[in-house]
Amino acid sequence: KTDQKVEKLLKKMTLEEKVGQMTQVTLEVISVGEGTAVASPHQLDEEKMRKMIVDYKVGSILNCAGMPHSKERWNEMISKMQEMATKQTRLGIPIIYGIDAIHGTNYTTGSTLFPQQVGLAATWNTELVEQAAELCAYETRASSIPWNFSPVLDLGIDPRWPRQWEGFGEDPYLSSEMGVAMVKGFEGDQLDKYHVASCLKHYIGYGAPQSGKDRTPAWIPERMMYELFVPAFKKAIDAGSRTIMINSGEVNGVPVHASHKLLTTLLRDELGFEGVAVTDWYDIWNLVERHHVAKDKKEAVKLAVLAGVDMSMVPYDVEFADLLIELVKEGTITEERIDLSVRRILKLKYELGLFENPVTNLADYKDFGSDKFIGIAKDAATESITLLKNNKNVLPLNKTAKVLVTGPNANSMRTLNGGWSYTWQGDRTDEFAKDKQTVLEAIQAKIGTENVLFEQGVQYVAGADYKTDEIVDINAVLDAADKADVILLCLGENSYTEKPGDLNDLTLSSNQIRLAQAAASTGTPVVLLLNEGRPRIINGFEGEMDAILQAFLPGNEGGVAIADILFGDANPSGKLPYTYPRNVNDLVPYYHKFSENLAHNDGNEYTDPFFNPQYEFGFGLSYTTFEYSDLKLAQKEINKNGELEVSIKLTNTGNREGKEVVQLYTTDLVASITPSVKRLKAFQKVALKAGESKTVTFSIPAKDLSFIGLENKPVLEEGTFKVTVGNLTEEFELVNSL
Ligand code: IFM
Repeated sequence: KTDQKVEKLLKKMTLEEKVGQMTQVTLEVISVGEGTAVASPHQLDEEKMRKMIVDYKVGSILNCAGMPHSKERWNEMISKMQEMATKQTRLGIPIIYGIDAIHGTNYTTGSTLFPQQVGLAATWNTELVEQAAELCAYETRASSIPWNFSPVLDLGIDPRWPRQWEGFGEDPYLSSEMGVAMVKGFEGDQLDKYHVASCLKHYIGYGAPQSGKDRTPAWIPERMMYELFVPAFKKAIDAGSRTIMINSGEVNGVPVHASHKLLTTLLRDELGFEGVAVTDWYDIWNLVERHHVAKDKKEAVKLAVLAGVDMSMVPYDVEFADLLIELVKEGTITEERIDLSVRRILKLKYELGLFENPVTNLADYKDFGSDKFIGIAKDAATESITLLKNNKNVLPLNKTAKVLVTGPNANSMRTLNGGWSYTWQGDRTDEFAKDKQTVLEAIQAKIGTENVLFEQGVQYVAGADYKTDEIVDINAVLDAADKADVILLCLGENSYTEKPGDLNDLTLSSNQIRLAQAAASTGTPVVLLLNEGRPRIINGFEGEMDAILQAFLPGNEGGVAIADILFGDANPSGKLPYTYPRNVNDLVPYYHKFSENLAHNDGNEYTDPFFNPQYEFGFGLSYTTFEYSDLKLAQKEINKNGELEVSIKLTNTGNREGKEVVQLYTTDLVASITPSVKRLKAFQKVALKAGESKTVTFSIPAKDLSFIGLENKPVLEEGTFKVTVGNLTEEFELVNSL
C-alpha cells in the first residue's frame, strides 16, 4: 500500500520537486542571523524558510543550530516548517527533520541523557540498550523529530581515532548485537509516533583511518572489510534499519561518497539495503575540496549520485539541487536514477506517518524526562561502569570515610556527558545540565558535604582547545590528602567529537600524570576514576593506584551511578568493550592473528610479549566473585550445518548479589589463513544472588565458525576448535555434513 502511494505521488512530481526531496539543509539557513552567528535564542526566519521549503522544495532539514531547545520550542519550530511544507507547496510533502540524538535526545533540554555508546557497550546488556534507545526515540519524537542519526557502527579498533567512544568498541560481534538492539529500540515493531528512523553510520570503514586522525584515509583489505567492518552493518540492515549515513573519509584511495562499489555493489546488491543513504556534512563538496576526485561541484554531484547517494546533507545551500537538475537535463544522470532515491525518501516519510501527522502532540509524551526514564539512564550508567582494579578490596568505600575528591573531571557535567551533548562539542553541558549531579556533588549528597574535601589539582583550560589542562595547586591536594582516608582521583578527558578530538599522544596529559603521582606519594589510598571516551595510556602510574574504575562517558546520571558504586550501593558489572592498551605502540585488538609470544619461533628469546594490554577486552571485576564450572559441549563433533550446544555453570561465590557477563569465545586451531587468537561468539549477562548458581546455555550455529578466506568469501573449514568460557576450555571437531 505504501508503495502504491509512493508511486502515485512520484508520478505527479516535477524534476525540481524530486531533487528537492534529495536535498537536506541545516537549520541555520532558515534562521535569523548569518552562518553560525544565528540569533540566540534561536529563531526561524520566515523569508529564508519560504525560500528553502517553498521555492527550492527542500525535503529535509537537520541540526540544532548550535544550541539546545525545549521540547515545546522544537515542536513549535518544526510545526512551522511542516505547516509551510504541507500547506504552501504544490504537493504538500512533509519535511523529514534529522538530528544526532546519539545518547538521548541531547538537543532538547530536560531530556534523559544515557551513557554514550561505548558505555552502553560496556553494559553488555542488550535489553537495557534496546530500552535506552526506545526511550530516546520517545523523547526525540516528542520534539516532532522523526529521524535520529544513530547508532554509530564504526568499529573502535584504534583508540587514537577521536570518535571511538561513539561506537560500541572493537569487537564486530558485540557491535552487531548492540547495533541491532539500538535499531530495534529506535524503530520498534513499527514506526509509530513513539519511534524514529535509525541511521547506521558512518558506512563504512570510518573508524579505521591509518593516521588515527579523523577523516583521513583508511586502507582496508577486502578480507578485513568483510571480517570486521561489514558484520555490524549487515545485522543492523537485516534488523530493518531504514537509513544509513556515509563515511566522510576514503577507503583504499576512494572517497566513500564516490564509491559505487561500496554504496551500490556492497550496500544494495550484497547487503540488501533498501533504505535511504544520506551523505555526511558537506561531503559532496569535499569530493572537490578535500579528496580532489572531482574538478568542480557539478562533477562531484554526478560522482556521488551515480555512486548511490540518495540525499545530500549539503548543508548550506541548494546548489546540489541546481546541479543535479542540470545533470539530468543534459542526460548525464537519468530521471530513473533520481526516481530510485525519491522513492526511498517518500517511502520513509510515509512509514514515519509524516503525511498524516507531520507534527506530534506533546500531550502524548507525558513520560518525557520522567523519573522512570531517569532511572533507566541511571541503570545503564551503573551497568556500564567497569571496575578494573581493586587491591585489597579498597572499594566499596565506607560511608563514614573522609574522601578527598580531586582532578579535572571531578566536578564537571561536561566531562560525564562527552560530545554531542546540548552542543556539538558538549561545551555548554555544565550550563544545561546544572540540575544534575557531578561526581563531587553526588558524593557530597551521599556521605555529607562535611565528609568530602575537594581540591581540583588540575583543570581544563576554558576557551582553549578541548585537550589543554593546567595545574591549579598540587600542594593543596597534598595538604588535603593528610586529612583524608581515601583520595578519589578523577582523571580523563574533556568533551570532544570529530576533528577537534584528534590527539598527538594517547598518553594521559602530563599534568594529570603529575597529579596522579602526587596523590600516590601521599600514602593515602587512591581510587582512580577514569572518565574518558577512549583508553588513555596510564601505564606510568597504574601500578600506584589502589583501585581503578572506568566510567567512560556515563551521561547525566553518571555522577549518581559512580557514587553508588564507590560506596557499595551498586555492584559494578561493566566489562571493557575494547582492549585497554598498555603502551602507545600496543594498539592491538584481542582477536589479533599472531601467536601471542614470538619467543619460540627461531630459538631467540624475545622477552616482550606481542600482546600485553593493560586490561583485556571483556575484562571487569565485581564486588562479589563468580566461579565457572561444568563447561559442557553437548557434542564433541558437530556438522557444518549443525549447532554447537554449550552449557556452563556459574556460581556467585561471594557474599553479595551481582551480575556477570558470561562470554563465549571460539578458537580455530588450524586454518588456511592465520586464525584469530579467539573470537567472541556469544554472551549473556546473568544476575545472581550470593551463593546462587545458574546454568547458562548457548547455541552457536556452525556457520558462525566461518571466516573470510583467501578468496574473500566466508569459508567454513573442518578441524579442531576450542571453546573458552571464563577460565574453562573444551575442544570439539567440526566435520563435514554426512
Ligand atoms: O551525524 C553527524 C555525523 O556523525 C558527523 N557529521 C555531522 C552529522 C550531522 O550532524
